[in-house]
Amino acid sequence: MCGIVAYIGEREAYPVILKGLKRLEYRGYDSSGVALLNGGGLKVYKKQGKVAELEENLVGKDLHAHIGIGHTRWATHGEPCDRNAHPHLSKSGKISMIHNGIIENYAQIKQDLQKKGYVFTSDTDTEVLLNFIEDIHLNNGGSLEEAVRIALKRVVGAYVIVLLDEEHPDTLIAARKGSPLVIGIGKGEHFLASDASPIIEYTKEVVYVNDYELAIIKADELILKNLGNEKITPFITKLDMELAAIEKGGYDHFMLKEIFEQPHTIFDCLRGRLDATNGTITMSGIQQYAEQLTQAKRIIIVACGTSWHAGLVAEYIFEEVTRIPVEVEYASEFRYRNPVVGEGDVIIAISQSGETADTLVAIESAKEKGAIILGVVNVVGSSIARTSHGGAYTHAGPEIGVASTKAFTGQLAVLTMMALKIGHLKGTLSEKRYTHLLNELNDVPEKVALALEQKDHIEALALKYKDATDALYLGRGYNFPVALEGALKLKEISYIHAEGYPAAEMKHGPIALVDDKLPVFFVATKDSFHEKVLSNMQEIKARKGKVIAIVSEGDDAANALADDLITVPFADELIAPMINAIPMQLLAYYIGVAKGYDVDKPRNLAKSVTVE
Ligand code: F6R
Repeated sequence: MCGIVAYIGEREAYPVILKGLKRLEYRGYDSSGVALLNGGGLKVYKKQGKVAELEENLVGKDLHAHIGIGHTRWATHGEPCDRNAHPHLSKSGKISMIHNGIIENYAQIKQDLQKKGYVFTSDTDTEVLLNFIEDIHLNNGGSLEEAVRIALKRVVGAYVIVLLDEEHPDTLIAARKGSPLVIGIGKGEHFLASDASPIIEYTKEVVYVNDYELAIIKADELILKNLGNEKITPFITKLDMELAAIEKGGYDHFMLKEIFEQPHTIFDCLRGRLDATNGTITMSGIQQYAEQLTQAKRIIIVACGTSWHAGLVAEYIFEEVTRIPVEVEYASEFRYRNPVVGEGDVIIAISQSGETADTLVAIESAKEKGAIILGVVNVVGSSIARTSHGGAYTHAGPEIGVASTKAFTGQLAVLTMMALKIGHLKGTLSEKRYTHLLNELNDVPEKVALALEQKDHIEALALKYKDATDALYLGRGYNFPVALEGALKLKEISYIHAEGYPAAEMKHGPIALVDDKLPVFFVATKDSFHEKVLSNMQEIKARKGKVIAIVSEGDDAANALADDLITVPFADELIAPMINAIPMQLLAYYIGVAKGYDVDKPRNLAKSVTVE
């Protein structure tokens, strides 16, 4: 949801910022821009479209500077166009600002400024906030830093802002509330970004700025303050990430690379936690809440999108093995409907980015009501991870492709371990089943690698079905959320309208859609519902729908019913979603590629949704 980058130091700022923006493009790619400051004053360049278009546009321009800010936008206020692109310039033309977030009371502030004669050149809330800051600065006579502080106390909403002031060419001012900001500390230089990916190449020492903090940054000095103007000692963290992890490594797209990384990422997630030989699961971030978990009256899972689908799988697993009632909530609904939450409730927040605004606010309010919050998060040090009492990282590594793949299977691996651990502690899971499931979990990386071997077959199927206008994804039990996830992946990447349903629910409405053109993808691996799923397949076949069935290796029960089959290794039904998700991801990927779409940056989407 908008990416921000800034640099101050000895290097040329523009190449650092440009490369950083390319790495952050997953956060939005409606427009991009840079503001650079050198002896000749502030220069602002911006362009609708992806960062490459900005780069092309700037060939031959004077880009020399040692201080600058850059932005890649996911439009909120105002359509994507050059005029609404960031950085924005203040009325005087002397201050430039980038912003990630939403200023909710911008309309009132705008009206007040208009009464004072301000004319706005964009439709953005950012230009309003910038001029509000400048207005305070000019009228109060204090420093720009002070004006920022005053303004931020009056605004409602979420922001990371970075300001570049022509009158102070050696200083950047930044502030955060609700949107992420990382500051990289180099030797005589500082890097600012929405996440660590633009920084990792230059330094591993970073400071994660907290909400309501303001940073005053010079090449060789970083001062952190709260909005009350008190200094705070910056807490320096060492990044545990390598540059190679954020590059394509020979794959055509990040999405494909990330799909193929899954045997390793799941292995990394299980490593050090799961010991199938000795029958143990060790999760240090959960351990101290084990008692609350085993005694929980209820578990509420909050998440969005793909992470919500992981939550649905977890609901089935937790209820089966722990007998604790589980509710799975869309974070955006949960946060606004005054839910009944209190002591004795455990909230599990699932998020790849750890920055999703709806999920973050949902857990903040549940925390105030006394619930224990456990985060299942991929990005280390992210806001959701820091807001949670405990939890577990998924260790999937940076996920750059906008459509989530490896984070999903990582979430399932963590949630399965959590459920098995609690079930074992509670005694609701028999020793025999516990041992069996631990062994099954241990085998997942290998089975995922085998599922990936279907790549060429799935690519061929993608060519066969790429021109469909609609698709149905069906599954039952543990495979129902997998069907939902399959449909979401296809929508996101190929823009084909797809719906996921419990296979039995299909006859209560969606069956009306079935004709001889509609592809119906069944997640039909061997499980307790297998016979019933086969009957549902019959129902589609009888109406001439095209059936594509994902089945367990060696199971030929669907052969006569399906037009096409995709086989995956057999796994216990509780574990199978991690394996069955693989063909879904590959299918969406290859259809998207066959249709000529930019699968890593699907239209209208952003990786990290830091606005409500
Ligand atoms: C789908 C996808 C999104 C995210 C959702 C939540 O491929 O990536 O649906 O799952 O925006 O994001 P996180 O997990 O970062 O909270």
